[in-house]
Amino acid sequence: MTLFDVYPLNNIAITSAKDSYVWDENGVQYLDMYGGHAVISIGHTHPHWVKRIEDQLEKIAFYSNSVIIPIQKNLADKLGAVSGKTDYQLFLCNSGAEANENALKLASFVTGRKKIIAFSKSFHGRTSLAVAATDNPSIVAPVNETENIIFLPFNDAQALQKCFDEQGSAIAAVIIEGIQGVGGINVADDDFLQLIRGLCDAHGSVYIADSVQCGYGRSGKFFSHDHAGVNADIYTMAKGMGNGFPVAGILIAPHIKPKHGMLGTTFGGNQLACAAALAVLEVIEQENLVANAATTGNYLMEQLRLIPGLQNVRGRGLMIGFDVPDERKDLKKKLLFDHKVFTGEAKPNVIRLLPSLALKKEQADQFLSLLRKAVG
Ligand SMILES: Cc1ncc(COP(=O)(O)O)c(C=O)c1O
Repeated sequence: MTLFDVYPLNNIAITSAKDSYVWDENGVQYLDMYGGHAVISIGHTHPHWVKRIEDQLEKIAFYSNSVIIPIQKNLADKLGAVSGKTDYQLFLCNSGAEANENALKLASFVTGRKKIIAFSKSFHGRTSLAVAATDNPSIVAPVNETENIIFLPFNDAQALQKCFDEQGSAIAAVIIEGIQGVGGINVADDDFLQLIRGLCDAHGSVYIADSVQCGYGRSGKFFSHDHAGVNADIYTMAKGMGNGFPVAGILIAPHIKPKHGMLGTTFGGNQLACAAALAVLEVIEQENLVANAATTGNYLMEQLRLIPGLQNVRGRGLMIGFDVPDERKDLKKKLLFDHKVFTGEAKPNVIRLLPSLALKKEQADQFLSLLRKAVG
């Protein structure tokens, strides 16, 4: 049997990992400034995470959501404490797309409306409504096409205001990444997020903060939307939540009331996933990783701005992007194959940095020195 060939692959097989490093099958070490696509939050194979998963495996890995699963409540309490959203409700699922799908569905259920506002360069996942709200027609199948999504320009206050003036009573939800990831590290303006909050309040619409990539401490605050001092009605979370163990969820504001059968999943919230997610929050708390993301991220951005040839360094915390001019468009490959550094990219010419939130200053310095060589 062959694998369904949908991924353009680098010819490297990664077989082990620790902290901010990974090794290939020949023992070659790579510095991981990509975090396996923003997934590695507390560092690869963190010992506390490994131990908690092992201990849980010995007890029980899975039972369905037809019984009380105490570790789900432990996770909800810890997530409330670490995120500061203590009065929110948690629904657990398995991936970022599924989190967004549930958030959009919930918004439609509670408002009784169909229209969703999404933004240019957004990415919300590949399932039916999540992909319809994604600004990339090439990944939207004919069956996913819908008239229910209204795309507006990102950070355009006037266009948003006009849309609500004209059809506010039809808008179920606004969905926005606090920092666009796949779109190329574009930070939503604080006053734009405040405007979304105000318009959703005025028109009875649901504010969905897609925090799948920019959440979980990556921006230097638990949710990147916290920088704007606003509370969303629903936060969607995935990547960093399990440090590589597949687990996702949505945080739901207290004014949204649940009904039995409204949402559901077989695997979501299983014991093993909850153990992994709890371990992540415990390490984030014990090792002050949100603060580390802020300081190490600021340091990296300051230093990147001093490197000639890199343009428009931007981001928050450890979610950083910069543009490379045309003549350096092979920089990502050069970093990987010549200097053994994983980074991310966004088309056409953006390098994305999404390392573990535990990245140390020495590792940031190691990256900067390799980058200077690669650019130089
Ligand atoms: C902002 C955002 N939302 C949703 C998703 C989809 O997550 P998943 O791939 O886990 O379905 C992604 C994945 O890159 C993302 O970056």
